[in-house]
Amino acid sequence: RKTPVALQEDGSYVISTYREITDILHNPHLSSDVRNLSRPTPAAERRDTPSFINIDPPEHDRLRRLAMRHFGPPCTPGLVTGMQPQLTEIVSSLIDDFANTQLVDIVDDFAYPFPVTVICHLLGVPRDDEPRFHQWVNAIIDSLDYDPKTDPPEKLNLGAQATDDLHQYLGGLLEPRHDRPGDDLLSRLANDDGPDGRMTDEEIISTANLLLIAGHETTVNLITNGMLTLLRHPHVLQRLRDEPDLIVRLVEELLRYEPPVHIVPWRAAYSDITIADTVIPKGSQIMLMLASGSRDPDRFDDPDRFDPDRQDNQHLGFGSGIHLCFGGPLARLETQIALSELVRRLDRPRLVTDPPPYRPSPVLRGPIHLHIE
Ligand code: HEM
Repeated sequence: RKTPVALQEDGSYVISTYREITDILHNPHLSSDVRNLSRPTPAAERRDTPSFINIDPPEHDRLRRLAMRHFGPPCTPGLVTGMQPQLTEIVSSLIDDFANTQLVDIVDDFAYPFPVTVICHLLGVPRDDEPRFHQWVNAIIDSLDYDPKTDPPEKLNLGAQATDDLHQYLGGLLEPRHDRPGDDLLSRLANDDGPDGRMTDEEIISTANLLLIAGHETTVNLITNGMLTLLRHPHVLQRLRDEPDLIVRLVEELLRYEPPVHIVPWRAAYSDITIADTVIPKGSQIMLMLASGSRDPDRFDDPDRFDPDRQDNQHLGFGSGIHLCFGGPLARLETQIALSELVRRLDRPRLVTDPPPYRPSPVLRGPIHLHIE
């Protein structure tokens, strides 16, 4: 609160309060293009076509519209509910597999396989290839917070190599779909000419790359953070058993209270920007502490309290502005079904270790394992 806009030693700025983060996310003089950043990133180092999360309008808008058109139901709140039976079936079968086991790891046995199965199915990526792309995705995520001062170059190189490997892998899946399309996103992007024209193969691969990473490294944390939060608030867990409809507000509160994306590290100023009486010079890199904004006491009453009855819960869990999360409706539905079913099916679940071990990333927050018995 004392320094909502903080200058770091390397010349980048950290923004941590709700109003300033929201202002920045809606400022047209801000760039998300990784090629404008002072700190290197694997995507910028190795590729000419970053995915649309990392580029600016008008290209961003064209690619987002095209992807939205073809990704269809999962990003449209009205239609996403049509996926409910299919998602509930996947969740039930995962719970069946461990329902009679003494010790369960909510991450490995449930919160990870569920969204991965869903996004693979939507994209047209074989689920059995998961061990291959999982390690690439991990290396890419690890390198997102690469800091040249403290990290060995190896971290960046591994991320860049993994970006190439994933790119090549997705290219191999795309190629045959030009002639023999299936009913999946890769096929639809490869074959449909929309009002915005067709995506190039490079653009399709970057988009699929983004959706594969975003679709399986974020929701796992929301589900796991959710289960952990419920186990730490047994009265809320009990309320959810008694009032199943509470789940909608509960998931919104989780996105505020324990959000998976803590930091958006990739914004750069196109021109000098004045914010909270500080001038951020043109060219500076800006990092947005979304999780801190969602606990700003000037915006949320008693922000450190988990309160699913909270009104006007305009959290920053999915960001804001033109890059607002594209998969929000899908992630919400997945988490609502996952937590509702866990609470309904598990009899008196108990945390084995509290706090559980966390993944080391400052960007994405969630336990690596969450053992319950
Ligand atoms: C963007 C969070 C799930 C696809 C974002 C952003 C956040 C976010 C904070 C904004 C990034 C920025 O401003 O630079 C989350 C969380 C999720 C989640 C917390 C789960 C709980 C998903 C899923 C998908 C997805 C399931 C797709 C299947 C995307 C895409 C963007 C995005 C494509 C970029 C949008 C754009 O640049 O226009 N997400 N996300 N996300 N998310 Fe998500």
